[in-house]
Amino acid sequence: MKICVLPGDGIGPEITEQALRVLEALRGDGLDFTVEKGLIGGCAVDATGSPYPDATAKLAQEADAILLGAVGGPQWDTLPREQRPERGLLAIRKQLNLFANLRPAILYPELANASTLKPEVVAGLDILIVRELTGDIYFGQPRGIREENGERVGFNTMVYSESEIRRIGKVAFEAARKRGKKLCSVDKMNVLECTQLWRDVMIELSADYPDVELSHMLVDNAAMQLVRAPKQFDVMVTGNMFGDILSDEASMLTGSIGMLPSASLDANNKGLYEPSHGSAPDIAGKGVANPLATILSVAMMLRYTFNLEAPAARIEMAVKKVLAAGYRTGDIYEAGTRRVGTKEMGDAVIAAL
Ligand code: NAD
Ligand code: IPM
Ligand code: MN
Repeated sequence: MKICVLPGDGIGPEITEQALRVLEALRGDGLDFTVEKGLIGGCAVDATGSPYPDATAKLAQEADAILLGAVGGPQWDTLPREQRPERGLLAIRKQLNLFANLRPAILYPELANASTLKPEVVAGLDILIVRELTGDIYFGQPRGIREENGERVGFNTMVYSESEIRRIGKVAFEAARKRGKKLCSVDKMNVLECTQLWRDVMIELSADYPDVELSHMLVDNAAMQLVRAPKQFDVMVTGNMFGDILSDEASMLTGSIGMLPSASLDANNKGLYEPSHGSAPDIAGKGVANPLATILSVAMMLRYTFNLEAPAARIEMAVKKVLAAGYRTGDIYEAGTRRVGTKEMGDAVIAAL
């Protein structure tokens, strides 16, 4: 197994270090891998002038899987757009065709009180958000800022082709088939033609999945329903932009965005694995970030790219154990639990393994 590690910026290096230690602790026992590190995001801009240098692209292309921390930070916010750290992340997703972004929002029972919602609203929560990742307004042309009638006008294009919708739809239907057999497709078809097509294609696809119950929801209502009664959802499928927003919202149902892992897959399950959160500049360098989303992303890597269910489940069980034992980083801390830093949390997971 060839794993490319791209720690990135802010808390990225701190959390990927712990995730790698967890992976190292599993070495042997049928698990053998090489790790090669590369630059992406702001640190890559500083070193090479590009947020996604050619050397990194080569490493990523040659690897079976990629583990990424996070990119971005205020010091790069004034750079021209093509040099922004986030462009590096968008470029690697696009170049490797990682169109299927899986973001599971699972509430570990021990964190029922860490959520800002009432425990009974979130207890037992297990949602999978399937977010399309290489299309939509993120990549649509034309885009830019132009002069018009003596003022500046900003514009972007929301666009999806039928084939793009169908391939993410298939991933979502297949996932639903293996879970609770309920799929909710989220769109804004009452206003946007692009998402009318989205809904039409989902309905066409549903003919191939008679065992999966397909429903549709407008995105504004979906945002509301996620906090009103989140357990009504099993699998949700939506476009790049809505999925970005709804997955951050869903993360708070699990207690913290520091708990939400993700997998970004191509058609052959080559994948990039990263926490759903960002580089958290406000806590970077302090050793207090929650590494669990990144550690859980390693579990997703073992499961989806390497088809190794046993060690994946072992990591998830270890996370469950450390939470049950009361270990908490600041973002999930509550009175009566034991506050630890990033490294201590990594130590605890390794001990629990
Ligand atoms: P963010 O997710 O970085 O942080 C939002 C809040 O959540 C902050 O208060 C932060 O401290 C907290 N948080 C996030 N992860 C945490 C963790 N593991 N443990 C504890 N607390 C955590 O979002 P933002 O502040 O909007 O963005 C900061 C930078 O990150 C921006 O430059 C943005 O573009 C970038 N970003 C990158 C990614 C990515 O690399 N995938 C994702 C989102 C944002
Ligand atoms: C995420 C992030 C990225 C996105 C940014 C940093 C480009 O918010 O992974 O959710 O919008 O996809
Ligand atoms: Mn996001």
